Order: sequence, then structure tokens, then C-alpha cells
Amino acid sequence: MAPKTPPLFLILTLLSLLSLTFFYLHSTTTPPPPPTPTNALTAAHNSIRVYVSPLPRSLNYGLLEKYWALTSDTRVGSEVDNEIRITLLPKLSPKSLPYPENPIIKQYSAEYWILGDLLAPDELKRESFVKRVVDSKEADVVFVPFFATLSAELQLIINKSVFRKRVEENEDYTRQKMVVDLVKKSEAWRKSGGRDHVFVVTDPVAMWHVKDEIAPAVLLVVDFGGWYRLDSKTSNDSSSDLTIHHTQVSLLKDVIVPYTHLLPTLRISENKKRHTLLYFKGAKHRHRTGLVREKLWDLLVNEDGVIIEEGFPNATGKEQSIKGMRSSEFCLHPAGDTPTSCRLFDSIQSLCIPVIVSDSVELPFEGMVDYLEFSVFVSVSDAMKPDWLVSHLRSYSDEQKNKFRKNMAKVQQIFQYENGHPGGIGPANLDGAVNYIWKKVYQKLPIIKEAVTRERRKPSGVSVPLRCHCT
Ligand SMILES: *[C@@H]1O[C@H](CO)[C@@H](O)[C@H](O)[C@H]1NC(C)=O
Ligand SMILES: *[C@@H]1O[C@H](CO)[C@@H](O)[C@H](O)[C@H]1NC(C)=O
Ligand SMILES: *[C@@H]1O[C@H](CO)[C@@H](O)[C@H](O)[C@H]1NC(C)=O
Repeated sequence: MAPKTPPLFLILTLLSLLSLTFFYLHSTTTPPPPPTPTNALTAAHNSIRVYVSPLPRSLNYGLLEKYWALTSDTRVGSEVDNEIRITLLPKLSPKSLPYPENPIIKQYSAEYWILGDLLAPDELKRESFVKRVVDSKEADVVFVPFFATLSAELQLIINKSVFRKRVEENEDYTRQKMVVDLVKKSEAWRKSGGRDHVFVVTDPVAMWHVKDEIAPAVLLVVDFGGWYRLDSKTSNDSSSDLTIHHTQVSLLKDVIVPYTHLLPTLRISENKKRHTLLYFKGAKHRHRTGLVREKLWDLLVNEDGVIIEEGFPNATGKEQSIKGMRSSEFCLHPAGDTPTSCRLFDSIQSLCIPVIVSDSVELPFEGMVDYLEFSVFVSVSDAMKPDWLVSHLRSYSDEQKNKFRKNMAKVQQIFQYENGHPGGIGPANLDGAVNYIWKKVYQKLPIIKEAVTRERRKPSGVSVPLRCHCT
């Protein structure tokens, strides 16, 4: 190699001299040249080209119509939507239906805001990071506009007893099959094996029956909790599990998205002196990983400066949380039935410093947002030591806490989905959650393309052992 270097270097030097000469000659005689292809390329790289898979309306906005047409939703949390059905709904056009306000459903509303942004008229979206294309061949990724969360939640309302069954009466199952069948028939899927397809699967029970089939795709999830549990059949002790055995999800191909916050945003200019040290609201008992939560509850319940209360998913509960999170310095987030919860995002909107008690947690937009600048991370073993947590939190000075809150104020909008347009159809805020999600998907494009290429050269009839679809 070495002897070849000098000539190459010489050629390059000559070339650059030539181009310099060319430039000088040009600049003296003609106006600046038009944008070169290089410029066009750079511009194109500041966006992601998305093709929206053509699904029937019954699989997205049709489900909203179905939801609002219900008359007998008696589940906990449904009060607010029953109220909307009477007061607000008669005044709305069927083309601009809101997403449910029931907190149990609303926390997973990413599907509604992402599609609403994609459907916004082009002229309103010039600045957007997402460019919608009408030909799948021009797309970087294919978005599948199925409201998977709403589909699952509707089934749980209408007939829960068949939810886990692959029977015709399970309309959610029927819809999942329909989506997968439609998408897999397309040329785009056949060409990529689905690796460049994007599904929103925020509710842990969404897409329950077709997880295997959509696994090669980019999945937008709130965490991997449900997937790991289902998928790690090789081990039955999660606490000593140093290796996660999974074949369906991975940080390499999937994107962690924020829960939708349920509490209103507190601006830093409205922040008042906080008199409580630590606030925690939630159910004491949780079915799966709730042990940590239960022990913490016992350790903290009688501490000075700590407020712990049981939560309800209704108006009373919401008022309680607003008051608690706005008057406390720190807000506690122990592992619940899933590794994360929407409370973390409520605490950011309330400028309450998150205390995350978990040994491993997946958070949205990592690498773009530095959680250490506004949160406290605590290991489970430290949190379990009597008095440790409270004295640790007391060791933060007012100055440090103010700095955390200032940093938090800067990232509040990154975790907001709301776009202020009726029916959710309109451009997402440039610095809001939807655009950040697409930026994360954009970061995955090189490995998606590589995986598709590798897949194509595989001799036909060969089957590779199933391993993580780490793209
Ligand atoms: C739910 O579906 C099952 C199976 O078809 C049926 O037996 C049951 O009556 C249904 N329940 C309701 C509330 O519709
Ligand atoms: C699951 O746990 C039981 C009891 O602790 C043990 O006997 C069994 O071998 C475990 N199975 C696996 C696959 O680790
Ligand atoms: C919310 O639920 C709790 C517990 O069920 C109840 O005591 C409270 O009255 C409810 N509040 C409203 C506004 O319905």
C-alpha cells in the first residue's frame, strides 16, 4: 500500500488545485453556480421519506368512530369519555374525532399523533423532518397506520373474555390478522421482509396475536417489558437473568417512544416553592415486578417529607397528582408492572425531578436527551436500604435542584404529542415527540438497509436459526 500513497496524494493535490483555479476563473466571470447535487443530497438527508401503507379507514379512524359510538363503557377510567360523549361529541364533525381521554388508553396515544402528522397537507409540513411519499419505492420506511392500541382496548371493553383467543368473536384478533395479511401481500414487504416497516405498538397488549409476524419490523414501543417476558421462555427467573433471550425486539431496530403525559404542563416561570421532598402515587400492589414497589412503600410511608398515596384513574386522582407533583421536589418511579410508566412523563411536565428506581430501564430518545441532567437514578439495592433514599435526596442542594428543573423545562416539549389540530390531523411540533421519534427511526436506516441486503443474498430455501431480529 505504502508506495502507492504518494502518487494518489499528488493526484488529489493536483485535482484540488485545478478545482481552485476553476473556481477563481468562474467567480470572476459568472454569478455563483446553482446548488450542486452535493447540496441536494445534504438537504435530502435532513428528512426521512415515509410511505403510508394503504389500510382501510376501519383500521384507524374507523376505530375511533366505533369507540365514541359505544354506550356502555363501564371500565375504570371511562367516566371522562362518557362525559365527552354527552357534552362535546354532538358538536364535533365525525372527521375530527379526538383520541380517548380515558387515562388507561390516552397514555398510549402515539398512534393517533404520528398518523395525524403524516396526513397533514404538504404545504403545512415544509419544515417537518418527515416527508410523505406516494410511491413506496421512494420511501425510506413504510408506516403501517393501524391503531393497534385502540383496537385492543375496544376489544377489552366489548368482550374481554375472548381477548386472548384466536376466534372470530375477537374483533381485535380479526383486525390484527387483516393488517398483517394486507401488509405482507404488498411488494414493499416482499422486498424487505418487513424490516423497513414501522408499527406503533404502545399498549403492551396491542398486536398480541401477531407479535411473531411483525417482529422483523421497526416497532415503536413504550418499553420492552411485555416482549421480554413473552419471549424469554428459556428462563423462568428474571432477577438472575443476565442474558435476555429474545428474538422479537431490540434497541438496535426498535424505538422507545414516550407515553403520552396525562397532566398539564407547568412552565418554569409558574414554578412555586416546593414543600414536599418526595411524592409517589400509584397502586401499592402490582402483579408482576411489583415487589420493589411494595417494599419501597413500606420503607417510605412513614418518612417525614414523603407523600405516598393510592391513585385512581379518575378526576379525583388527576387533581391529586397535579397537586402532589407540583408541590414536591422529587417524584418516585419504581418498577411497576412494566419497567416504565406514563408517570415519568407527567413528572417531567410537572417539573418534579424524577427518581428512577430500576436497575435497567429503557427510556425514549436516549442519545438525544441526557436524563442525568434532570433525573436521579437509584439502584434497587440502594433504594431498599432503610433511610438511604430520603437522606440521599436531602443531600441535593437547592442550586442543584433548580438546575435540574431548568434542564427539565428545556426538554418538556420533546415529550409532547399534542399538535393542537382538530382530529389530530396537522403538522406535529418540530421539537415535539413525533419528530423526535422519526429522527430515531432515521438513525436506524443504515442497519435496516444492510439487513435487507443481507437477506436478499441468502440462497433460496435456506432457513437461518431464529435469533434476535437485531436487524
Ligand atoms: C363474549 O364472547 C363469548 C364467545 O363468543 C360469548 O359466549 C359471550 O356471550 C360474549 N360476551 C359478551 C358480553 O358479549
Ligand atoms: C424453572 O424453575 C423451576 C423451579 O425453580 C426449575 O425446576 C426449572 O428447571 C426452571 N426452568 C427453566 C427452564 O429454567
Ligand atoms: C374516583 O375514585 C375514587 C375511588 O373509587 C372515589 O372515591 C372518587 O369519588 C372518584 N372520583 C370521582 C370524581 O369520580
